[in-house]
Amino acid sequence: MNAGTNRLWQVGKPNDDIHGGMALVRGHFERGEGAVPAVGEGQVLVRAEYFSPDAMNHAWVRGMPGKFDPLAPGTTMRGGVAGTIIASLNPDWPEGTRVTGFLDWADYSLSDGTDHMGVPLQRIPDGVASASGLVTLGMSGVCAWLGLAHFTRPRPGDTVLVSGASGGIGSIAGQLVPLFGARPVGIAGGAEKCAAALANGFDAMVDYKAHDLPGQIAKACPQGVDLFFDNVGGPLLDAALVNMSHYGQVLICGGTAHYGVKPEPIYNHIHMAMRSLTMRGFFYFDHVDLWDGARQRLAHWLRDGRIREWLDVEEGFEAVPDAALAGFHGGVKGRKLIRIA
Ligand SMILES: NC(=O)c1ccc[n+]([C@@H]2O[C@H](COP(=O)([O-])OP(=O)(O)OC[C@H]3O[C@@H](n4cnc5c(N)ncnc54)[C@H](OP(=O)(O)O)[C@@H]3O)[C@@H](O)[C@H]2O)c1
Repeated sequence: MNAGTNRLWQVGKPNDDIHGGMALVRGHFERGEGAVPAVGEGQVLVRAEYFSPDAMNHAWVRGMPGKFDPLAPGTTMRGGVAGTIIASLNPDWPEGTRVTGFLDWADYSLSDGTDHMGVPLQRIPDGVASASGLVTLGMSGVCAWLGLAHFTRPRPGDTVLVSGASGGIGSIAGQLVPLFGARPVGIAGGAEKCAAALANGFDAMVDYKAHDLPGQIAKACPQGVDLFFDNVGGPLLDAALVNMSHYGQVLICGGTAHYGVKPEPIYNHIHMAMRSLTMRGFFYFDHVDLWDGARQRLAHWLRDGRIREWLDVEEGFEAVPDAALAGFHGGVKGRKLIRIA
């Protein structure tokens, strides 16, 4: 790349849209190039170091009902970015500051101190790696902490079942559950990922790709599931519902099972009534006021080794489409990142 070129990924018009509007496909990614943007008054220029592919890429391309419209073809793609401010005309954001935010998926992004969600850029604290700024101190860690500490609060002795246990949020949630005196049980796909999740802090694992998912959950959670921290939905939610304890809680964090395919029906919802269950969800961007407190705690636990990150890092700008699509097809081991520079 020459010094004046800004490599970027743009939203394409796919002719491989086999999922009928349900997910990202390869044709959504079009390689482009532009000039490195000039910094205007009040702006900063961020040089990207890592991209974090996640469901927000899907949301921007497909739109999020009630939140925002799909990006038009030809628009620079957006996503989680960790990088360094290399030029600044904004006194609040000096050159050299390492930041994260939802920015352009380009070598260089302009910002006025906020990101594409209208949220202030997040400073990466000294001593914290840029990748960790995106993961543990980013959406993964903060969702894991808020889901447990603010929206459910497991009690000592509770069994907490976490789906997506090998993913960004699930792998951190599994390590935070013992802080509440509760027992983390995870769900992941395949023996290899289950073994890795056990080594990463889960007390027991359930393999959703093996047979008899409800029976496996019953065996791993003999006292019942007091809290189901659900990142996946679909058949996993259905299997968890028949294993809930009386007065248990279901936290809907994500729905990965629904992103790439037509959603499957939930058959066991009547257990919500029969067991007096509570179900709630939360959206990360509705709780910006809670991020700083969460990030401070998470940074502390990252430094003292309580939280160990499980990263799956791809190298290079050209790796972006495959890496971004992998999250929708179970091809990820830990939180996927792409190192750009
Ligand atoms: N509530 C919010 O504000 C908020 C914020 C961020 C993310 N989210 C959502 O939270 C969820 C987890 O996010 P993340 O960043 O942790 O994702 P991630 O790192 O991409 O991990 C997702 C995990 O889901 C599993 N998975 C994929 N397809 C599956 C399927 N069909 N059935 C079962 N498991 C499947 C994969 O594990 P295996 O390899 O084991 O299949 C993968 O490890 C996503 O749905 C995301 O959209 C919500």
